[in-house]
Amino acid sequence: MQDNGTYPNTLIDGFGRKVDYIRLSITDRCDFRCVYCMSEDMTFLPRNEVLSLEECARLVKIFVSLGVSKVRITGGEPLVRKNALWLFKEIGQLSGLRELVTTTNGSQLEQQAEALKTAGVRRINISLDSLDAERFRKITRVGDLDKVLRGIAAAKLAGFHNIKLNSVLMKGVNDDEALPLLAFAVDQGIDISFIEEMPLGDVDHTRDSTYVSNEATLKLLQTRYELISSAETTGGPARYWRIPNTNTKVGFISPHSHNFCESCNRVRITCKGELYLCLGQEDKVDLMPLLREFPDDDRPLIEAIIGSMRIKPKGHDFDLKRAAPAVIRFMSHTGG
Ligand code: 5AD
Ligand code: SF4
Repeated sequence: MQDNGTYPNTLIDGFGRKVDYIRLSITDRCDFRCVYCMSEDMTFLPRNEVLSLEECARLVKIFVSLGVSKVRITGGEPLVRKNALWLFKEIGQLSGLRELVTTTNGSQLEQQAEALKTAGVRRINISLDSLDAERFRKITRVGDLDKVLRGIAAAKLAGFHNIKLNSVLMKGVNDDEALPLLAFAVDQGIDISFIEEMPLGDVDHTRDSTYVSNEATLKLLQTRYELISSAETTGGPARYWRIPNTNTKVGFISPHSHNFCESCNRVRITCKGELYLCLGQEDKVDLMPLLREFPDDDRPLIEAIIGSMRIKPKGHDFDLKRAAPAVIRFMSHTGG
């Protein structure tokens, strides 16, 4: 545990939930343009509106001193940020941190997997929505499937034992790939989670036109695989299943179908330093002004973070039928 002087070393919100997990987006930029995540012509933030890596490191250190034990670095695509590795190393050294993990699109892993492992990253989540190169290109608009597959191989070679694929299934786009994607995960000895598309950011299609329920996906997978429900939870929206005689766990991330908010243990920090208390709500505290106004005094930041616990909402309410996205900000700002 990092010492923070006189402040408590646990964050508890107004509903008695312990917050010990932060997800930090270190860039809104990405080398892909996935159709469910971005519009075709995204404009990205100017550099000075994004936290510097030093500011990111300072924030994470403060959160760890307040009892946060798990940190996920996300984006955008975190590995396209210049010197991202420096930040991973800084965070990896914090005593009190139990788990440093990251979510990536895999495009840079071929070069960076080994260094991430050395920096202390424990687990990697890699987005993979199709095993067909042409379709992969359509979904990501620009991505190269082969490069991502080489990235997955590099992560395995670097000794990551906890690799998880994240697949967003969309009706009429890739919902016929649930079984092949699972077969690939089983073959690779890695985990896979199916994520229902969430109404985040204004993209170029309406979300209910592509919605595939995880219930339907589960039914489909059960035609080919035996799935055994597991009690395991990370305090998030995922339910896990095991497949006997394999190393593969299957997760279903169902923001629409299940209410998981009562066990929520996490908050998110955008690349602009906004502390969002819930992925599906607008409640937030701006940490960037405090970071910049008080470069040598952590107390205002600590007090703002402790104070933010009072406004963490009870839960979200995503509604697919609503014309506008539930939340205007893009996943690439908030961090997946
Ligand atoms: N709905 C569901 N998942 C999304 N992701 C990005 N945008 C959305 C969305 N609107 C996923 C990515 C990645 C993870 C971090 O979040 O595919 O796997
Ligand atoms: Fe990039 Fe991930 Fe968004 Fe795709 S989902 S555009 S890989 S940030």
